[in-house]
Amino acid sequence: MNIARKGPGTGSRSPRARLHTTAPRRSLNGTWQFRIFPGLAAAPDDGWDGDDAGWALGEEWTSIPVPAHWVLEGHGRPAYTNVRFPFPIDPPNPPDENPVGDYRLVFDAAPEFLEGAVLRFDGVESAAEVRLNGELLGETRGSRLTHEFDVRGKLRATGNVLAVRVAQFSDASYLEDQDMWWLPGIFRDVDLLAVPDGGVWDVFAVTDYEATDGTGTVDLSVTRNGAAGEPARFRIPELDVDLEVTGGGVIGVGGVEPWSAETPRLYTAELVTPAETVTLRLGFRRIEVRDSVLLVNGAPIQLRGVNRHEHDPERGRVFSPERLEQDLLLMKQHNVNAVRTSHYPPHPALLDRADELGLFVVLECDLETHGFEEIGWRGNPSADPQWRGAYLDRMQRTVHRDKNHASIVMWSLGNESGTGENLEAMAAWTRAFDPSRLIHYEGDWSSTYVDVYSRMYASFEETRRIGEEVLTPAPFGATAAEMHRRSLPFMQCEYAHAMGNSPGGLEEYQELFDRYPRLAGGFIWEWIEHGIATTGADGRRGYLYGGDFGEHTHDGNFVIDGLVSADREVRPGLVALAHWYSPVRIEVTDGAVVIQNRYDHVDLSGLRFVWKAEADGRELGRGELKVGRVASWEKVEVALPDELADLAESPEIVTVEAVLVDKQLWAEAGHVVGRGQRAWLTPAEPPLETSVPPRSAFDPVSLRLRELGGLRLEGPVTSLWRVPTDNDRRPGWEEMDKPAYAARWELLGLNRLLTRVVSATEQDGALVVRTRTVPPGRDCAVDAEYVWRQAGPNAMTVEVTLVPDGTWPVEWPRLGLDLVLEGAPTGMAWRGLGPGPSYPDLAAGPFWGDHEASADELLTPYVLPQESGARAGVRHASIGTEQGTLVVTVLPGGASGGVEEVAVTVSPYSRKTLATTAHQHELVADGRTHVSIDLFQAGVGTAACGEGVLPRYRLAARPGRVTLLLESREG
Ligand code: GAL
Repeated sequence: MNIARKGPGTGSRSPRARLHTTAPRRSLNGTWQFRIFPGLAAAPDDGWDGDDAGWALGEEWTSIPVPAHWVLEGHGRPAYTNVRFPFPIDPPNPPDENPVGDYRLVFDAAPEFLEGAVLRFDGVESAAEVRLNGELLGETRGSRLTHEFDVRGKLRATGNVLAVRVAQFSDASYLEDQDMWWLPGIFRDVDLLAVPDGGVWDVFAVTDYEATDGTGTVDLSVTRNGAAGEPARFRIPELDVDLEVTGGGVIGVGGVEPWSAETPRLYTAELVTPAETVTLRLGFRRIEVRDSVLLVNGAPIQLRGVNRHEHDPERGRVFSPERLEQDLLLMKQHNVNAVRTSHYPPHPALLDRADELGLFVVLECDLETHGFEEIGWRGNPSADPQWRGAYLDRMQRTVHRDKNHASIVMWSLGNESGTGENLEAMAAWTRAFDPSRLIHYEGDWSSTYVDVYSRMYASFEETRRIGEEVLTPAPFGATAAEMHRRSLPFMQCEYAHAMGNSPGGLEEYQELFDRYPRLAGGFIWEWIEHGIATTGADGRRGYLYGGDFGEHTHDGNFVIDGLVSADREVRPGLVALAHWYSPVRIEVTDGAVVIQNRYDHVDLSGLRFVWKAEADGRELGRGELKVGRVASWEKVEVALPDELADLAESPEIVTVEAVLVDKQLWAEAGHVVGRGQRAWLTPAEPPLETSVPPRSAFDPVSLRLRELGGLRLEGPVTSLWRVPTDNDRRPGWEEMDKPAYAARWELLGLNRLLTRVVSATEQDGALVVRTRTVPPGRDCAVDAEYVWRQAGPNAMTVEVTLVPDGTWPVEWPRLGLDLVLEGAPTGMAWRGLGPGPSYPDLAAGPFWGDHEASADELLTPYVLPQESGARAGVRHASIGTEQGTLVVTVLPGGASGGVEEVAVTVSPYSRKTLATTAHQHELVADGRTHVSIDLFQAGVGTAACGEGVLPRYRLAARPGRVTLLLESREG
C-alpha cells in the first residue's frame, strides 16, 4: 500500500450521481473482522486479504462495527487540531506512527449482483486499499468522497472475501486538515449495488426557471449501462412530461412552480429503462449574479446560513438519520435558510432533505491544506502541479455525487487551502461541467476564478466598505481582477463565531446585510459543538475536547463552538439568531404595528399575526391583526385593533407574534417565526413605612446583610468581574497586539477585589453603609453607598450608589452586586426579559414577560464553564433556594440607565469554581446560591475568532444607582 504519493485514488469507476433506483442494493454495513497495527511497516502481508474465506484469523483479530471510527470503538484515541498538522510537514509522507486497521468481511452475493455490480464506499478516513477475493480493486483518497469499484467478474455467489486496509494518515491527510477531530476508519456506508445491463449509470438533470414567464426546463444527460444508443422514458407526471430520451437534451416543461428555500417545490421525475427505473426529485430554479447581486429566480436573496460539520458525541462523523433530522428541523425552526457543508460533502441524505425542507446549500469539496499556513504556505499542494490530479479528482467526486439537487446553489472548492493553480483548475472544470451554479472559494481574495466574493469574519467596518464599494465608480486603472471582483456579490462564508457565550454583534451584521444589496448574507460559524461524550464521576453526561485524550499537539476547546451542543441542545446564540434571521420584522409602536416582510420570494400569507396584551402578569386580551398582502421586502403599518384600545386596564406588554398558518414539514401550525413587543412596565411601589434595620441583621465586620426574615445570606458586595467567556479569553482581531480581556482583568485583579467598610451610620431613618472596593496593589476604586431601611419583618430596601474613583485602566465586564444565599438554588421566577439569558449584544430573542427557570436552566451548560445565565430587564425576581426564597424587586430610583439594565444571574457555583473547572460535568456545587444583580454588563463579542466587543457594548468605568426591595419568603 503506497500512502505517500501525490495522486488521487486508483481503480474506481468514474464518479457519478447518487441515484434513487430500483436496481438492487445490499448494505454491507454490520460487524466486520478487524485488527490494528501501530504503523504500515508493522501491518503484515500474511494472506489475510487473499480469497480464502476460511482463512484462520490470528488472535490479534477482533470485530468492529462498520461504519465507525476505530478510535471511538476502543482502538486508540481521537485527536483534535485546528490549523496545525499533528505530524511533521513532509509531504506526501505520513508519519511512521500511523495506525493501520485491517477490515475483513466474508459475504455471499445474491444472483442479481453477479452480472454486474459495484462496491461503493461512501467514506473512509484517510486512505484505503481494497481487495476482493484476493484481487486488488484499488485505493481510495478523499475521506468524505464516494468511491465505487467494479466487481463484475470478481464477485462470486458465496464466500466473498472483502479486505480493506485503512491508514489513519496518508498523503491525503495533507489535503484534509479541516478544524475537527482526526477520526480514522470506514465511517460511512459500504454497499454492493447491482449495475444491470441496459440500466442507467448516470444522470445529470440541470433544471432552470425563467421568472419572467414562469416556465421551466430540464437539460438532461443520461449515461446508460451498455445500452448507449437505446432510448429511455423520461416522465414528470405532474407536468405531463412523458417522452423518450436517448442521451439527453433540453426539455421544456412549461409553467412550473419554482423551487427556493422558501418554496421548496419538487416534482418527481422518472427515468425508465427495461432494467431499472431511476427517480429524481426536480426543483426548478435559476441562480445568477447581476450587477454584483445574488439572485435566485430573478429576486435578490439573503443567505441566512450556518456552517455544518457532521458530528455525533458518541459516533463522530458516522451518519445518524436522527441527528440529521434534528439539525435540519432546528435550522428551519430558527429561520436558517442556508447551510454550508463545512468542509466536505456531507452524507448524501442531507441533500435529499435540504431539497424537501427548503435550504440553500453551499456544497464544499473535501479539501483543506491550512497547516501549510504555519510555514508561510511553503510547499502548499494547491500550487504544486503534482497534486493537480488529486485536486481535480476530489472536485469531480464532489460535484458528480450531488449534481441533481435543487438545494445546491454553489460549489465550494474547499476551505483554507491558500492559493494556486490547482484551485483554478478545479474551478475551470466545475464551470465547464455545471455552469448552472456559482463557484465559491474563500481562500483566494483575488477572486479571479470564483463567482462570489467570499470572506470569513470580515469586520463590521470592512463588510460595510465591501457593501459600499460597488455603489461608487471603479477606480481609474483598476485591474481586470479588481473589475471582476467588483462585479461579484459578497458573502461571509463564516462569521459570528458561536463559541461559548456568543456570538455578539448579530444585529450589526444583519443591519449591514439589509442595507447593501451586494451583501448576500452569510453563514454562522458553526452549527454543532464537536464535544465527545463522557460520563462524569457522579454519572453526569459531559463532553470532552482537544487535549482530553492525551494528544501532544492539540487546540483545546476550539472545537466546541456551536449554536447547538453535541446533543443538539439549543444555545442562547441560536435563540438570538432566530430573531435576526426571522423572515418578518415586527415593531409595536404606540398606536400601530409595523411589519416588514423579509422573505425573498413570498408574501406573508403563510403567517398569521396574533396580538396579546398583558398587565401585571395577566393576559388582558388577545386577537389577530388584519394584515393585507405584503410583498417581499415591503413594510406596512397596521393600526392596533380597537379591542386593544377598549381594554379595561391599560396593558404593560403588547406582543405581536407571526405564526405559521399551516403545518409545515419542519414545524406545526402556530410555530412562532417572528415576534415584536412593546413594554411599558409600571414601576413597583416603594414601601410606605420603613424604619432603621437592626444591626444584628448585618455582619459586624463587613456590614453585609447576613440575615433577612430568617433567610441566611451574605452580601451584597460590589463586584466587577465575570467568569471569562471563550471570547474574553482571546483578543479580538482588531486588537491582536493587546492582551485578551480575561488577561487584562486578571492582571488588574478584578477577580480579587477587596472591600473595606468606610463608615456605617444611622441617618434619616436608615442605616447608611459606605464601602470602598479596590483591586489588590492598586488604587482605583469603586465607592459604594448602601442606604438600608427595614420595610416589614422580612423585608428591607436598599438604595445603592456605586461611583468609580481614580483611574481604571481596563473596561469592566460588569458593574453589580454579589450576594450568596445559604442552600442550593431551586430555580427562579421573574418578570423581565426571558426565558433565556441576554447580554447587551446578544439580546434579541428573549422577550418581555413572566418567566421561570428551573435549577438546571439558571446557567447555560457550556462545555467550558464560563459566565452565563444573566436574565436582563428584571423588574422582580423570586430566587428559590433550599432554605427559602429571596424576592428582589427593582424600585424606582435607579439612575444608571433605567431598569432595563438590571440583570440577575443565579448560580449554584461561585465564579471562582466556574473559572477553574475545565469541563461542565466536573463542576462541584457548594450547596449555596450565588446571586449577582448587575446594573451594567459588557457585551460578549466574538473575539474567539473575529471582532471583539463593539465599543458601544464595552463598559468603561462609570457610576450606577439602583434601589432594591429584598424580601424573604418561606419555601
Ligand atoms: C475558520 C475555519 C473553520 C474554523 C473557524 C474557527 O478559519 O474555516 O474551519 O476553524 O475558523 O472556529
